[in-house]
Amino acid sequence: MSGRIPQNFIDDLINRSDIVDVIDTRVPLKKAGREYQACCPFHNEKTPSFTVSPTKQFYHCFGCGAHGTVISFLMEYENLDFVEAIKELASNVGMEIPKSEGFINSAPRVDKSVTQSLYDVMARADQFFQQQLRQHPQASQAVEYLKQRGLSGEIARDFGIGYAPPGWDNLIKALAPTPSKQLLDAGLVIEKEGQGSFYDRFRERIMFPIRDQRGRVIAFGGRVLGDDKPKYLNSPETDVFHKGKELYGLFEARQHHKQLERIIVVEGYMDVVALAQFGVRNAVATLGTAVTEDHLNQLFRTCSEVIFCFDGDSAGRKAAWRGLENGLPLMQKGRQIRFLFLPDGEDPDTYIRQHGVERFQQQVEEAQLLSDFLIDQLSANADLRQVDGQSRFIEQLKPLMQLLPAGTYMELLLDRIASKLHLDTLRLKQFLGIAGSTMAVQRSAPMPRQARNQRQSPVRSAITLLLHHPAFAMKVENPNSFRAIELPGITLLVDILENIQQQPQITTPMLLEQWRHREGGQHLMTLFQSDHLFSEDTEMMSDKFSGVVKELEKVRNQQEHDRLLSRFNQLSDVERKRYLELTQLLKGVNQK
Ligand code: UTP
Ligand code: MN
Repeated sequence: MSGRIPQNFIDDLINRSDIVDVIDTRVPLKKAGREYQACCPFHNEKTPSFTVSPTKQFYHCFGCGAHGTVISFLMEYENLDFVEAIKELASNVGMEIPKSEGFINSAPRVDKSVTQSLYDVMARADQFFQQQLRQHPQASQAVEYLKQRGLSGEIARDFGIGYAPPGWDNLIKALAPTPSKQLLDAGLVIEKEGQGSFYDRFRERIMFPIRDQRGRVIAFGGRVLGDDKPKYLNSPETDVFHKGKELYGLFEARQHHKQLERIIVVEGYMDVVALAQFGVRNAVATLGTAVTEDHLNQLFRTCSEVIFCFDGDSAGRKAAWRGLENGLPLMQKGRQIRFLFLPDGEDPDTYIRQHGVERFQQQVEEAQLLSDFLIDQLSANADLRQVDGQSRFIEQLKPLMQLLPAGTYMELLLDRIASKLHLDTLRLKQFLGIAGSTMAVQRSAPMPRQARNQRQSPVRSAITLLLHHPAFAMKVENPNSFRAIELPGITLLVDILENIQQQPQITTPMLLEQWRHREGGQHLMTLFQSDHLFSEDTEMMSDKFSGVVKELEKVRNQQEHDRLLSRFNQLSDVERKRYLELTQLLKGVNQK
């Protein structure tokens, strides 16, 4: 166990973090009574059953049963391992993880070493390319090219722009003795057909590193200096790089802004960089692919408004339509998607250079609402003043509305479309086959899995109550005496009681995290959320706990009594005295 992150650091970290903040920046939450709610990020649903408790610092989903602490959330949601989640949280609150000797990962992922070495290789390649831009004898051409495109050294640095010099094995040599197989897995080299020898993938190109959410370089895009083809060469998919998930510039945008209100999605690397050059530091680009739902999910975790900025030509409109289709399932109140179409033949890079940042910003302000774009596109070939035009419109609208989650956003969109069609909203709904108001049917939380009146074991009750209110442990005078009880889970209960008594200030999430890697730790998480005690009041729970402790004392006494009785003829004097004592005690209890 040595070399782990110190437990008191984790305790401290949990105390300084707020689960509501951490989740809200990723999954926007809405206040509902004493708790917060959202549609569950871990399963597909249309009405929110994902609940976050600010007082318990815990989340749980009534729909799919997902639950845990702020650390569990980061692990699940960002797909991090335990140590990575701690790091992420620590950097959020500005705490530094104490460096302990021989620091080891307490919960290693199976493929950890492989992906780790991929990240390492990419980081070293990134360093190499950046260094070449400064040092290589032929780099002056590249520097010249970047200057001519208006990029300053500062922006080049922020985006880590580099240079892959001409030649077939510069990178291979620079990273020697890294095995070629690793370079191949990282997508940095290409294997000569069937020969087992390799050459650099990127040669004589300006290099754009693609970073993941945490700033690790996971891929590159390389642009030729002139008009050669292909203009851009991109890393292939690797274990750490999935085109359909990553967005160029997102890390940089998040670095630059504490809070991002909106993000502009553009098509090219150069567009992102050129906008940044003009101070527009909230643009990202897909990597030569259409916008996916994964992309949009990531964006909406960061901000509430996404603006697609595409070419006004038909390709641009098509790309925008894909964005709309992939965006509809994610639309909910508070989120917005808008569309900005630039004049034919212009991209954001050329536009901002020619017209300046103010004109560009103004275009952004005036970008078309999703609803208007949708109506525009659908009515392009349907005359809305004619009945058959309207019906064609509605036929096209049907499948799209099915993508949309029920809720306020849908209602508002329907209102808007209805007025455009000069129809009553209710009528429109009937045509679309959407019965009644979807908004009114706020599904109430389903009953917890366990029936309420099912009799619970006192051990289970005691543990659950303690998890909700650790301070109750102070009421138990001699927890160790419970060890004699023969009931499932009793050791866990006594261990927890002692744990709390040694650390009276402990809070629920601290307790759960201290147990994460101990036997029974996962069981605790499950117990904590399964009993739906979140809204019960403390006094009631306190009484319940006292009752359970009494019950346990009785079981303890009864069992001791029975054990003594079973060998009554061999009892010592002391034991015999104890037996009589217990008999009295149990009589008293039973008479009450
Ligand atoms: P563009 O041709 O619009 O690129 O392609 P750009 O960023 O405006 O480049 P400049 O201004 O000519 O330097 C848009 C995006 O499509 C992908 C790249 O991701 C590019 O940024 N693409 C384009 C490729 O992957 N390969 C190509 O050969 C061309
Ligand atoms: Mn361009």
